[in-house]
Amino acid sequence: MTAQRIDGLALSAQIRQQVAQRAQACAAAGHPPGLAVILVGDNPASQVYVRNKIKACEQTGIRSVLEQYGADLEEDALLQRIAALNADPGIHGILVQLPLPRHIDAHKVIEAIDPTKDVDGFHVASAGALMVGQPGFKPCTPYGCMKMLESIGLHDLRGKSAVVVGRSNIVGKPMALMLLAANATVTIAHSGTSDLSAVCRQADILVAAVGRENLITAEMVKPGAVVIDVGMNRNAAGKLCGDVDFEGVSEVAGWITPVPGGVGPMTIAMLLVNTLESCERAHA
Ligand code: GUN
Repeated sequence: MTAQRIDGLALSAQIRQQVAQRAQACAAAGHPPGLAVILVGDNPASQVYVRNKIKACEQTGIRSVLEQYGADLEEDALLQRIAALNADPGIHGILVQLPLPRHIDAHKVIEAIDPTKDVDGFHVASAGALMVGQPGFKPCTPYGCMKMLESIGLHDLRGKSAVVVGRSNIVGKPMALMLLAANATVTIAHSGTSDLSAVCRQADILVAAVGRENLITAEMVKPGAVVIDVGMNRNAAGKLCGDVDFEGVSEVAGWITPVPGGVGPMTIAMLLVNTLESCERAHA
């Protein structure tokens, strides 16, 4: 079998086009969607991510405001900036790029964001809403993964087994909750899981979100499974790669997402969706 690709670039382009149309309607009504992006320090990966987010805003008619600070920014100063952005009616989304320098308590910073502007979906109020099935912002990466599943006709996952490898607050845990909400039977695997291969082989839907190159190999995949690769790693040659051995797993899986061009662009697309929806809600 040769797996079909789920093209995150093409799907994200469609979503961005819809966002652009709705953003234009907001602007015409006098309230263009606005996203504030806060970057502290000089982490090179964060700089690339932030640049891509700002560029995507520009392309879709979302007004973005980038606030960049040195690594020595004090926590109190950051909290004050967030308070000001919370109170700014022209700002509908606030994103603090992670990781933050070690002297800043990231939890405290995220909790300072008004949950109605928490377009990353990282606030405990957003996490709690997802947990109990109430409306709230969904974290962009797992939200994008769900859209990829929908794009291949997988809306209701009743009767399907889903395995999420990785238990981060940003991806693994919310991913598992979203799959559960879609009626999948969900397992979360992690570094403490014994016989990871056997667990993964049960999966009709396998999501890899660990950050380790070639963690998922062909013998860990059930024939015909859908494999979603959230990993973003650099291999020895400096090339961007995911957590999945793409060539090998493509021989076994039914569907697979590439890296690059898979989950990455979807994460950004869902950030735009969340920002737009925040604006629409604020002015409804
Ligand atoms: N760092 C890595 N991924 C993300 C993300 O999706 N949002 C934020 N704010 N920081 C990140």
